[in-house]
Amino acid sequence: MRRVLVTGGAGFIGSNFVHHLVDHTDATVTVLDKLTYAASRESIAGLPEDRVALVVGDIADAAVVDPLVAENDLVVHFAAESHNDNSLSDPEPFVRTNVLGTFALLEAARKHGARFHHVSTDEVYGDLELDDPERFTETTPYNPSSPYSSTKAGSDLLVRAWVRSFGVQATISNCSNNYGPWQHVEKFIPRQVTNVIDGGRPKLYGAGLNVRDWIHADDHSSAVWTIANDGRIGDTYLIGADGEKNNLEVVRMILAHFGRDEDDFEHVTDRAGHDLRYAIDSTKLRTELGWKPQYADFAEGLGRTIEWYVEHQDWWRPHKAAIEAAYAAKGQ
Ligand code: NAD
Ligand code: DAU
Repeated sequence: MRRVLVTGGAGFIGSNFVHHLVDHTDATVTVLDKLTYAASRESIAGLPEDRVALVVGDIADAAVVDPLVAENDLVVHFAAESHNDNSLSDPEPFVRTNVLGTFALLEAARKHGARFHHVSTDEVYGDLELDDPERFTETTPYNPSSPYSSTKAGSDLLVRAWVRSFGVQATISNCSNNYGPWQHVEKFIPRQVTNVIDGGRPKLYGAGLNVRDWIHADDHSSAVWTIANDGRIGDTYLIGADGEKNNLEVVRMILAHFGRDEDDFEHVTDRAGHDLRYAIDSTKLRTELGWKPQYADFAEGLGRTIEWYVEHQDWWRPHKAAIEAAYAAKGQ
């Protein structure tokens, strides 16, 4: 039995990971989450009380973090400010949580000798041309574009330094774009699905030709657990499921699901510094650790996710109007 501290476990991917641990392992889980606007208590409600506990607190607060890290064998670190558009409007919380929060956790892991897995993003590598035959690998140089991705890059580099200088027992993963249940309506797929449910039109930034490499959150969870257990200390593993699609294609799949015309969307103001394309080569994870994704068919996974949003309107509807008003104020 393992005691696992999951930071950000009330967020989109962190909560999926907590469910994964309950369903597939005998670990006991402590979630440390500040419960920001992005969190959802419902996403981890109803789990067995003898397996999962929630501590509401800030990862940048050493007094909170230190005793929790001391009590656990493994820290899996998801907590972050995660939305690029928000980082363009106000970068400060990104620097505080993503950089200083990771620093506080690493210091506690160093002190208590806890195993540490750091969850990061493919965005640290910048972007690719549409026709580039290469995809991101573990040796691609860092070149982040946004305040969000630069703070995630900074946190990755802290982890690497704490491994080398202090012998912290850490691994890092960099994953591509996730989709699935419990993703906040600010993000691309939930925003467009809920717009269409409400009878509105999807909003595409710019021409809609930017490419993202989609992976289901369940597959991200299984990959993180594999790496946290079997990964080589100090190593980075890229996580991806060969899911490249441009944003226009995704919008058209959503419209088709609801029987709407494929051109029934709007072009809106593009994101500043908008990364063109992300693409992951996950050969290392697949060959060295034997991981493979279960959601091989994006269309099927997307269809199930759309139905989840149709069935969970009570969950997302309280947040929808304010998010749309904030986007509208930016011409998006
Ligand atoms: P999210 O925004 O849905 O959830 C983040 C969670 O962290 C929330 O529950 C929030 O309350 C919590 N949190 C924020 N600041 C905190 C603080 N100071 N202290 C404690 N808790 C805090 O994010 P997500 O999309 O689930 O992403 C989770 C992690 O995965 C992030 O590290 C992100 O960089 C990484 N990631 C995300 C994706 C993606 O597609 N969403 C892809 C690759 C990597
Ligand atoms: O690549 C991994 C990253 O994926 C994670 O690190 C981030 O935490 C996560 O938010 C996500 O970042 P993106 O910026 O790629 O995701 P987002 O959902 O914001 O946007 C996906 C694409 O859709 C991107 O090209 C911008 C575009 N977009 C987004 C919104 C919200 C639109 O065209 N219209 C929209 O309304």
